[in-house]
Amino acid sequence: MPTAVVIGAQGVIGRYIVEKLASLPAWNVIGLSRRKGTDATRVRHISVDLLDLADTRAKLAGLAEVTHVFFAAFQPGSGPAADYAKNIAANLGLLVNSVTGLHRASAKLERVVLVTGTKYYGSHLGPFKTPAREDDPRHAGANYYFDQIDWLAAFQKGKRWSWTELRPQTLCGFAPGTAMSIISVIAVYASIRKELGLPLAFPGKAWSSLYQVTESAHLAEAAYWAATEPRCANQAYNITNGDYFRWQHVWPAIAKVFDMPAAAPQQHALVEFMADKALLWDEMVKKYGLKPYRFSEVVAWPFGDYVFNCDWDVMTNVTKSRQHGFHAAVDSGEMFQRLLARFRAERIVP
Ligand SMILES: NC(=O)c1ccc[n+]([C@@H]2O[C@H](COP(=O)([O-])OP(=O)(O)OC[C@H]3O[C@@H](n4cnc5c(N)ncnc54)[C@H](OP(=O)(O)O)[C@@H]3O)[C@@H](O)[C@H]2O)c1
Repeated sequence: MPTAVVIGAQGVIGRYIVEKLASLPAWNVIGLSRRKGTDATRVRHISVDLLDLADTRAKLAGLAEVTHVFFAAFQPGSGPAADYAKNIAANLGLLVNSVTGLHRASAKLERVVLVTGTKYYGSHLGPFKTPAREDDPRHAGANYYFDQIDWLAAFQKGKRWSWTELRPQTLCGFAPGTAMSIISVIAVYASIRKELGLPLAFPGKAWSSLYQVTESAHLAEAAYWAATEPRCANQAYNITNGDYFRWQHVWPAIAKVFDMPAAAPQQHALVEFMADKALLWDEMVKKYGLKPYRFSEVVAWPFGDYVFNCDWDVMTNVTKSRQHGFHAAVDSGEMFQRLLARFRAERIVP
C-alpha cells in the first residue's frame, strides 16, 4: 500500500494533495506542518517544526513505510512578495531537514515531488522569454528554488528513489486561513469595496497583460501523476491550467460573482488601501456571520500587489507534461467564478 508524506499539508497546495491522495482507495497519507490538521480515514497529521532539527528527527524517525514524498512547505520573507524568492535559508532548511529525515526513516522511498514555481524563470522580476520552457535558463540572482533543486538532485544521486519538480503559477484554491492565495485576495478585496459602496476596480497595472494560473486541485492531480509516472523520474514540468487570459477579460465575470459593477484599473497599492480596513473587516465578520478569520490570516495583501502588477506576459509552455502523459486542463475564467462563489457560500466573505 503506498504511503505518502505531504510536507506543508496545511497550505494552498498541500491540503489539496492530501485530499487527492485520500480519495484514492489504496493510499495512506501523513501530513506534516506546525499546525495539526484533522485526521481522517487513512489520513493522519503530525505537528512538527521542520526548521527544528531535533523535533524533525524525532517525529520522522518512525515513518518506515513511506513510499512517496510531496514537498509543498514554504516560508515567505519580509517585504514585497517578489522578494520571497530570496528567503533561502528557511526554505532550503525545510526541504533538507524533511527529505533527509524521510530518506533515513524509509527504505521504501520511490519518488520525491518538489513543488517550485514559475519564478524559476524570473517571472517575478520583469519581462522574460515566453512561453517559458523547462530547459530555459534560470534567471540571474538569488532564488531558493535553485538551492532546493540543486540540493535535491545532488542528494538523490546513487539512491534508488527519484525526484520530480513541478513549476506551477499563482495557485487558486479554497484554503481559508492560508493568506498567500489570490482567490482570498480577490474575495476579501471585492467584499470590502462592496461594503464601502465602491465598484470592483482592478487594483494594479496588469490589466491587459497575458497571465496564467494553476488551480490547486489541478496541481494535486499533476502531483499524483508526477509521483507515479516512470517518465517523470528526475524531470521538471511546468504545470498550469493550460490556458492564458488577460485580467480585463475575466474581471467583469468576477465582479458578477459579488453582484457588483466592475471598474477600470485604479493604481493603488492594496497594502496601502487595506492598511486601515482591519476594523471594518471585524465588523463585517459580525454583521454577516462570517467564519471568524482575522484580517491578517485571511489575506496577504503584498501577494495581491505582486500578482496584479505583473504588467508583462507571464506564460509557460506545458507541452512537456502533455507529452509525458498529463492531459488535464482547467478553464481559468470558469475556475475564478466557481472558487469565488465557494468563498461566499462557505461564509468566508459575505
Ligand atoms: N501560492 C502560490 O500562488 C504559489 C505559486 C507558485 C509556486 N508556489 C510555491 O509552492 C510552494 C508552497 O507554497 P504554498 O503557497 O503552498 O505555501 P503555503 O500555502 O503558505 O503553505 C506552506 C505550508 O508550509 C508549512 N510550514 C511552514 N513552515 C513550516 C515549518 N517550519 N515546519 C513545518 N511546516 C511548515 C505551513 O504550515 P504551518 O504554518 O502550519 O507550519 C503550510 O502547511 C512554495 O515554494 C511556493 O513558492 C506557490
